[in-house]
Amino acid sequence: MTIRLATIRDIEIFAAAYFDFLCEKDLVWSGVPSSVLARAIDSFTEGAFRQALSGVKGCAAVAEVDGQVVSSVVLIYDDNHSIGRAAVCFLIHTHRDFRKRGYAKKLLAWAEKRAFLEGCKVLETAVLDTNTSSKALMLGAGYQPFGILVRKPLDLNAGE
Ligand SMILES: CC(C)(COP(=O)(O)OP(=O)(O)OC[C@H]1O[C@@H](n2cnc3c(N)ncnc32)[C@H](O)[C@@H]1OP(=O)(O)O)[C@@H](O)C(=O)NCCC(=O)NCCS
Repeated sequence: MTIRLATIRDIEIFAAAYFDFLCEKDLVWSGVPSSVLARAIDSFTEGAFRQALSGVKGCAAVAEVDGQVVSSVVLIYDDNHSIGRAAVCFLIHTHRDFRKRGYAKKLLAWAEKRAFLEGCKVLETAVLDTNTSSKALMLGAGYQPFGILVRKPLDLNAGE
């Protein structure tokens, strides 16, 4: 598996990943009308994904196996966080055909290291209680529940 920074050419991959996430069964928004989903995806690709691509306000990356994208991540940096710069994981997603093979775990570790090197003190993300796979990924990677978020302090060992 190799990891590379995303470019604007990957926009369809990220839009598809976000769509798939919004359609995930057992999550609160499954079953929302397609017109609402379409608006959410437009706003994601115009907002968070483009901010992450800028490299200043975040980071977007993909993991590939044999040239195929298997997993993707979008981080947004928050400079107004109470504890200093923070990274928020907006989306981490693994293609359905490639799940439970450790790809998201490796990509998350890569993202933690990257966020630390970008000056982030913590990495946070919201995890719905019904999102079994996301909970397993995050709690397994050392994140602690923090209200409706999970949070992990980043240090020189980030991503290890
Ligand atoms: C959450 C998600 C990214 C995990 O991707 P993945 O590549 O399958 O995860 P990994 O294979 O790296 O698994 C990481 C750990 O979580 C566990 N895990 C993953 N999915 C699981 C599931 N459905 N049930 C139980 N444990 C699960 C794995 O066994 C592994 O544990 P281990 O380290 O003890 O072996 C993937 O399920 C997904 O894309 N979900 C939809 C999008 C989403 O909900 N994203 C999170 C919110 S932004």
